Amino acid sequence: MTAPAIQIRPERELAPDGLDRLTSLVADDLAEVNRAILARMQSSVPLIPQLASYIVAAGGKRLRPLLTLASARLCAHDGNRHVALATAVEFIHTATLLHDDVVDESERRRGRASANALFGNKPSVLVGDFLFSRAFQLMVEDGSLDVLRILSNASAVIAEGEVLQLATANDLGTDENSYLDVIRAKTAALFEAACEIGGVIADRPVEEIQALATYGANLGIAFQIVDDVLDYSAAQARLGKSIGDDFRDGKVTLPVVLAYARADEATRAWWRRCLEDQDQREGDLERAIDEIRRTHGFRDAILRARTYGEQATAALALFPSSPIRDAMLDVVTFTIEREF
Ligand code: IPE
Ligand code: IPE
Ligand code: MG
Ligand code: MG
Repeated sequence: MTAPAIQIRPERELAPDGLDRLTSLVADDLAEVNRAILARMQSSVPLIPQLASYIVAAGGKRLRPLLTLASARLCAHDGNRHVALATAVEFIHTATLLHDDVVDESERRRGRASANALFGNKPSVLVGDFLFSRAFQLMVEDGSLDVLRILSNASAVIAEGEVLQLATANDLGTDENSYLDVIRAKTAALFEAACEIGGVIADRPVEEIQALATYGANLGIAFQIVDDVLDYSAAQARLGKSIGDDFRDGKVTLPVVLAYARADEATRAWWRRCLEDQDQREGDLERAIDEIRRTHGFRDAILRARTYGEQATAALALFPSSPIRDAMLDVVTFTIEREF
C-alpha cells in the first residue's frame, strides 16, 4: 500500500461558499488549527500519520472547529486557547468518522475511498482511537476541567448515539422521537459542545454559554436531518460519500420514518422487506427514493430541519449584532441548503 502524500488542500477548497464569511473572519485561527491538526497527528508509528493524513488531507468542511473559533470570537475570548480546543474538536469528529465508516461499511468519504476501504477496518478503528486520545491530551494541556467535562460528556454521548442507532436500525417501529434521540446524541452533542466551550474559555455568564449550547444543539440536529436527506437525494460526486448507504444498512432515518408512516400496506411490506429483512433487490433504492419523494418525505424532513435552524438562530438573539454573529447565522442557512 502506498501512502498518499501528506498535503492539505488550500483553505479555499476547505471552505464551502456558504461558510465564506465565517471562514474569512477566522481565517488566521483556522490556518493555525490546520497546522495544529497536522502537527498533533504525528507519531513514530508510521501507519498513524499515513492514515490520519489521508483523511485529513481529503478536506472536510471543518465545520465543528469553525464553530468553536466563532463562539470564542463572539464571546471576545482574548487568548489562544480556542485554537487547541478547536483542534481537539476536529480530532474527535475525525475519530468518529473513522469508526463510523467501519460500522456503516462505507466506501467513500470526502470524495475518495474511505480509510477503511483503503487501509482496512483494523487500522481505521485503531487510528480513530489514537485521534480520540490525542484530543484528550489537547484538552488536558488546556487545563480546564469545565472544558474537559463538556467534551468528555459529548464523546460518551456520541458513542451512545452510535450504539443506540444500532438498536433502531432494521426496525420500522422507530418513530420520529427515537430518531431524534439518536441524532441528538451522535451528531448534535458535538456541535453543542464545540459552541459551548467557546463561551466557557471566555468566562462568559451562564446564559450566554447556554445560548451557544442551544445554538449548537439545534444546528447539529438540522445538520444530521439534512445529511439523512442527502444520503438519498444528493449528487454523489458533490457529496463525496456514497448515496444509498443508509438504505443498504437498513437505517431508519427521518425521510424513511415519514415515508413509511404515509405508505399503504403493500408499500409498508416492501419497506419491511428492504430494511428489516435486509432483502434488497435491483431497483429497490430507486423505488425508495421515489416513495420518499411521493410522500413528501424529503420536503417535510427539510421543513423539520428548518425549524431546528430557526431555534438555532433565535438562540443567538442574546448576543448583539456583529459580523461574527451574522456569520454564525450564515452557518444555519448553509446547513439547511447545503448539497454536501
Ligand atoms: C459527517 O460530518 C458526519 C455527520 C455528522 C453527518 P461532516 O459532513 O461535517 O463531515 P466533513 O468533516 O465535512 O467531511
Ligand atoms: C454520522 O452519521 C454520525 C457520526 C459520525 C457520529 P452518518 O453515518 O449519517 O454520517 P455519514 O453519512 O457516514 O457521514
Ligand atoms: Mg456513516
Ligand atoms: Mg449520513
